[in-house]
Amino acid sequence: MQKMLLPCGTIEKQQRIVKQERGFYFALTWYIQEDKHLKDGLFLLLSCLSYGYQWESIVFEHSLDEMTYAFPVQSTIAKGRIVSVDAGVAQAIPGVITVLTYENAPRLNPQIEGELLVLQSHAVAYRGQFVALVVAETLEVARQAAEAVVVRYDELPHNVLLHADSSDLYKPDHVNPYYETDTASGDVEAALASAAVSIDHTYTTPAEHNNPLEPHATVARWGSDGVTLYDSNQGSHMIRDKVAQAFGLNPERVRVISPYVGGAFGSKGAARPHVILTVMAAQVVGRPVKFALTRQHMFAVAGYRTPTIQRIRLGADNDGRLTAIAHDVVEQTSTIQEFAEQTALPTRMMYAAPNRSTTHRLARLNVPTPAWMRAPGECPGMYALESAMDELAIACNLDPIELRIRNEPKVDPETGHPFSSRGLVACLREGAQGFGWQARDPRPGIRSDGRWLIGTGVAASTYPTRRRPSTAIARVDREGRYSVLIDAADIGTGAWTVLTQIAADALDVPMERVHLEIGDTLLPRGSLAGGSMGTASWGTAIVEAARKLRARLQEEHGVIPADGLEVMVESGENPEARRFAMHAFGAQFAEVRVNLDSGEVRVPRLLGVFAAGRIMNAKTARSQFLGGMTMGLSMALHEESVLDPRFGDYVNHDFAEYHIATNADVGTIDVSWIDEDDPYINPMGAKGIGEIGIVGTAAAIANAVYHATGIRIRDLPITLDKLLV
Ligand code: MOS
Repeated sequence: MQKMLLPCGTIEKQQRIVKQERGFYFALTWYIQEDKHLKDGLFLLLSCLSYGYQWESIVFEHSLDEMTYAFPVQSTIAKGRIVSVDAGVAQAIPGVITVLTYENAPRLNPQIEGELLVLQSHAVAYRGQFVALVVAETLEVARQAAEAVVVRYDELPHNVLLHADSSDLYKPDHVNPYYETDTASGDVEAALASAAVSIDHTYTTPAEHNNPLEPHATVARWGSDGVTLYDSNQGSHMIRDKVAQAFGLNPERVRVISPYVGGAFGSKGAARPHVILTVMAAQVVGRPVKFALTRQHMFAVAGYRTPTIQRIRLGADNDGRLTAIAHDVVEQTSTIQEFAEQTALPTRMMYAAPNRSTTHRLARLNVPTPAWMRAPGECPGMYALESAMDELAIACNLDPIELRIRNEPKVDPETGHPFSSRGLVACLREGAQGFGWQARDPRPGIRSDGRWLIGTGVAASTYPTRRRPSTAIARVDREGRYSVLIDAADIGTGAWTVLTQIAADALDVPMERVHLEIGDTLLPRGSLAGGSMGTASWGTAIVEAARKLRARLQEEHGVIPADGLEVMVESGENPEARRFAMHAFGAQFAEVRVNLDSGEVRVPRLLGVFAAGRIMNAKTARSQFLGGMTMGLSMALHEESVLDPRFGDYVNHDFAEYHIATNADVGTIDVSWIDEDDPYINPMGAKGIGEIGIVGTAAAIANAVYHATGIRIRDLPITLDKLLV
């Protein structure tokens, strides 16, 4: 993606930016439309034109009559309380309908999460928190009025910086979403003390923001039947349930529509405060309300990846066989809601070692609550573990691929369960072949091309294979046309295409005869598009519904009754998940060039080889792996949300200053996969692929930077200044 200009001022500027984005979308769409295999090419065109333009009057296909527009006021302190809100000047601006503050806002169910208790108290928990909302006839008036609202604060000293040695770190009950906080077996300290080779290093990763292309946006309209939302999210039923809970409604009275989503990366996996505010505002003004976050808003209220401080200790014998693994993580949460990233999770199952321990500790800071961002846990955790494995390989004088193969576990080292399938070694071997690893000289800092040092690195990837209950309807009408209905979400992954394909396969009819409907709570409940489990969860329900429909057809001797046939199936949990450890694996290879004078790092070549079960659609799968690896490159070299401790806020809160990898930063990325037949995971045999692509990429690049320069960077991102020492 070309870097976009910063939306930062007048409406004229905004419109120019919209046109630029549109140019990009057109290019993308033409490319996709050329491909007849993609069912959603045309839909994508339509949705690209309509979604996410907070500066135009349409956020979604639906432009409602009597629409009103919301714009928020955000706190300018990180901790304290509101003393007064003076909305007089704002209220007097022609076109302003109402100004909501904690003094006049309707009361919400106090049981909901702290982040969603918007305008319920005078307390301020972080800078950027919503403290008022203007609703007006136009977006421009709403924004102007929001700037005219005067909020006075009683400010308290804030604490916004994460430190490993803080005295008030605490141990959360569990880590996201339901894992043990700490694990231990054997005697790590004794094993480390007596290890022939050991390393002990601390790796740090910064806060990073999800930044999907489409900013979060919601339209809400109340009617006699309850409230309807047009919303951009990862699961409409999840939004429905949260709105119902917040407003004390029967869920039947909340409808959420979200057929096309312009990206999310986890940030739309839970209801955000703007959703609650939109519903509240529409209730108060009695008209539809549209609330679209700006890019800047998203840095405070849409979630982000916690910064991490990770100490890794590894002990090994002279052959490089691990005797001890310890991974201790420090990360942050907010004062109003807990989020405990599961950073050490992959360390529990990657490598065999008799003595092991993992811990997670949290600091409660005056910051927004961190949340899910593509491969929460695995992504930062594997940067640290796979960097440490590279350091251990060097300490053992072993090839880093050989080190990993020697420590391949026969069963899940912490649970003792067998793996349903485990393709790590195959990925490493195939990747080594494809990348040309065999000829590699391990000595660092000895290859150059003019003023560029050259190096290569490798790292492993992994991501859990999960599946959640979902419900699907399959029906056939008299003319033999099939429909499949499920509230799934396509967040850019290709779900429209792949679910149609799964249904057609299971019904044994061509794709053209299957009509799919997703993205609406009037459809049966599908699980979240998160945790890389969408295809597995929805696909299982669809396959089971299709099988049942075919059985019903057989009972009718193949003759479709006059009013058609319909079945509904709720798929359950996977019982095999109690017997097997289920994970996807991969191997990431990187070549880097580091400029001797400037410290600039270029990545001419990445190769990812994945073992992720059966690949359902080569084109959409390749796109997911490529996207993940690009985001991993971005993590390695660019992404960092910079917090100013004086204000307690992220200062680089737009695309001009929050750097993400652009076209010019990405060289060749090769993606391939090995065939894997896993009968235990789901009827398709497909493992999730939305997240594994980002896991390990940053470590492969950091390891390559070491190989090129002899400088080990243990603090992401790897910026020029860190190499010019
Ligand atoms: Mo994804 S970060 O599990 O929504």
